[in-house]
This record gives sequence, C-alpha cells and structure tokens, in this order.
Amino acid sequence: MDSYKLLITGGIPLMGETYVSGGKNTSVAVIPAILLSDEPCTIENLPDIEDVHVLVDILRDLGAKVDFDGRERRITVDPRGVNTHTVPYRQSKRMRASYYFLGALLGRCGQADVGYPGGCTIGNRPVDQHLKAFRALGAEVEERGAIISAKGKMMGAGVFFDKITVGGTINAMLAAAKAEGNTILYNAAKEPHIVDLANFLNSMGAKVKGAGTDTIRITGRPHLHGSVYTVIPDQIETGTLMIAAAATRGDVTIHGCIPTHMEALTAKLLEMGVQVTDTDDAIRVRTVRGHRAVNIKTQEYPGFPTDLQQPMSALLTKAGGDSIVIETIFESRFKHLNEMRRMGARVQILDQTAIIEGVSELYGAPVTATDLRAGAALVVAGLMAKGTTEIYEPGFIERGYEHIEEKLRSLGADIRREPVEAKTDN
Ligand code: EPZ
Repeated sequence: MDSYKLLITGGIPLMGETYVSGGKNTSVAVIPAILLSDEPCTIENLPDIEDVHVLVDILRDLGAKVDFDGRERRITVDPRGVNTHTVPYRQSKRMRASYYFLGALLGRCGQADVGYPGGCTIGNRPVDQHLKAFRALGAEVEERGAIISAKGKMMGAGVFFDKITVGGTINAMLAAAKAEGNTILYNAAKEPHIVDLANFLNSMGAKVKGAGTDTIRITGRPHLHGSVYTVIPDQIETGTLMIAAAATRGDVTIHGCIPTHMEALTAKLLEMGVQVTDTDDAIRVRTVRGHRAVNIKTQEYPGFPTDLQQPMSALLTKAGGDSIVIETIFESRFKHLNEMRRMGARVQILDQTAIIEGVSELYGAPVTATDLRAGAALVVAGLMAKGTTEIYEPGFIERGYEHIEEKLRSLGADIRREPVEAKTDN
C-alpha cells in the first residue's frame, strides 16, 4: 500500500502552458533494444518514471554499465559487460515491458530466461503471440514455473500475428534485428512507438522497413553499432493533459507533442464541442461551452487508444447526454468508473461496454487507483469534481506520468500529497 494519498480539490479551470515528457511505451522498448548493440548507446528525452528506473535495475543486474541521469532525462548503456541471459521473476514482475528482454536477449545471444511480466491488471494479457514469433524465428520456447525460457539461433522468417499486438510486434522486431536472413511481420501493430523503435534500431545500423504499416520487413544484420537517439514525446500523457484541460473547462497549451499522433482524440474532443487547435509541436485545448456526449470504441492505432479510454470516460461522466464506451482491447478497463460512482457518476457496465449518463456535478470522495490509466482517470475526475477527492494508491500514476502533480499545479490545479497512516488490522 502506498504511504501517501493524493488530494485534489476540483473545480479550478486549468490555464497556461505545459510540456509533454518523453514517451513511456517507447522508452520501455528502446532501452532493452540497446542490448542488441555491440557498443554503448545513449537515449535522450526519457521520462523520469518508475518503469524506467526498473529497467535500469534490470540492465545493471545483467552486467551492463548504466549511467542514468533522471534530471537530464538521459541514459547511456554500455552492453559489453552483459554476462547473463536471465531476468529473474523478482525483477520481471515489476513491470510489463520486462518481456522485451526476451526478444532483446534472444537477438543478442540466442538465449533468454525471463520471468513473467507484471504490469497493469486490465485483462488477461497473454503472451502467446510473442512466443509464436520467437518460435517462427527458430527458438525453442518453454514455460517453466514463473520463467519463460527461449533458446535458438534467430533465423529470418515470416510471422503472421493472429491478433494485432504492440508488445508482440516489438518483441519480434527485437528478436529479428540480428537474425540471419529476412523477416516479415504481417498484421503488425502500427503505434507511434513501433515506428520509434524501428528508427532507433535503424540508427544502430539495423534494416527495418515498413514500421507504421501492417507489414514490417527486417533484414537481419550481424552487428549493430552505438547510437545517440531521442525518443518521441508521450502520446498518452499528451492526451491525458488535453482531457484534463477540457474537463476543467480550461485553456491549456501543451508544447513538445506530436499533434498527428493525437488525431483520434482530437476528433472526439471536437465532436464534444471542445476547441482544439495545433501547430507543428503544440496543441491548445479550450472549452467555452458545455460538452456533448459522444460514443467511443477503442481500437489499435490509428483508432482511439485504449490507454486514453479511461481518462476520456471520466470526462464523459459530466457530458450532456448518454455516451457509450466500448473497450475492445482489454477485458477489464472500467474499474475507474466503478470508483467514480462514489463521486456521483452514473454508469452501467455490461462486459466491455459502459453506458455513461452525464450528470451536472461530481463530488469529491475517497477513491482508489487500480492501475496506471485508472489513476489518471481519477485525477481527471478529481479536477472536475466539487470538493476534495482523495486518491489512494497513487503510486500507479507515477509509473507512467512524469511529475504529474507539478505539471498540474503549474496550470493552477489544487493537488497535493498527504501521508496515509499505517493501519493495523485486529
Ligand atoms: C501495450 O501493451 C502497452 N504497454 C499498453 O500500455 C497498451 O494499452 C497496449 O499496448 C495497447 O496499446 C506497453 O507498451 C508496455 P498488446 P501490450 O499486446 O503490448 C492481446 C499503459 O497504460 N494479446 O497490444 O501488452 C491482449 O490481451 C498500457 O501504458 C494476445 O492475445 O498490449 C490485448 O487484448 C497498459 N496475445 C491485445 O492483444 C498476445 O500474445 C492487445 O495487447 C499479446 C496480446
């Protein structure tokens, strides 16, 4: 249990300018990819978040020399000292993206023993497509207790994903980058961080083509060299800040983002009556009148992202009319709405569909974050509500949002921490 809770007193329109940090889901793929290099690599614009700290711990355990400066948002990793292919469950369970060490170590040395990943409990999250790709590339894969064990010389192959998977696509790219021969990934994910990983691999001398389309072609290269690379800004943090600005009927400009990554959200906000304008690397969000209800269906990129469904559905609880939200990616991503019922939200949940009846007010209440984006949704809810909302387990939010409290405070939000007293059960 976290030792502190977040207190948010809502009703204050967010005003001013802020910036977006480097992407979480791209950083957690690019950092393990350094293991494929024969030389040190430097990654810049990293977010200073818990998931990055966990990756640093794992790399050091593997024997890599890591120089991480959170304030400078830069990491330099020298992989030459890596002397094991094992990531124990004790470390892997700390985050989802630990499974990228499977692809990265297989690509590096043809062998990987990695514990099952942890991460947000938002559904079953199987890894069958990752394992299918490793097997297609020539690995023998065994699941033993808490460990996934894969071994074999990587040989280029065709892999047709039965389901579009971000993690599976990334793991296959990592395993194939140094394989002998050509690999083609069909029905690949198209998220911006897939393109970013391809750009990073290519900056090390890899030959990856087609990232951002559903067919990725990789010509394996035996050696990859060092690189200095800057990761793209966080699409989901940008979206969360856009939603928070709309939710408080504020006027916020977010700098350092990529507006074209935000098109699905921007379209929905415009449909709600929110004003959204953009330049090359900034988005301004303003609300001048009431919000209309809208329907949302989550989809793979470029559709509406599941990671923004939670903050967006929090926003819809106060829209004029009924909204229908269909979550198609994960089975269990409405827990924040159950918490928000205590704040006055009117919601019916039927499997993966939520019917949200807009109310005119939400009221502050104690709520608990159950995962990263649920936490972000509850922050949005707290900012919109009358009175003070107490968010328990806010540590989830820190896993993915850099300095979120400071950023929101700089826009005028009343958000603060308070210690939670340890309670002894009788
Ligand atoms: C990534 O998760 C992100 N995580 C998630 O971010 C994000 O929600 C998700 O992609 C979708 O965009 C990281 O990048 C670390 P998937 P991932 O494989 O890779 C099913 C956040 O809040 N599937 O694209 O685990 C799976 O169950 C989060 O930042 C299989 O069936 O997602 C899901 O229904 C949480 N078999 C769907 O595919 C597989 O082998 C998409 O999952 C793999 C996935």
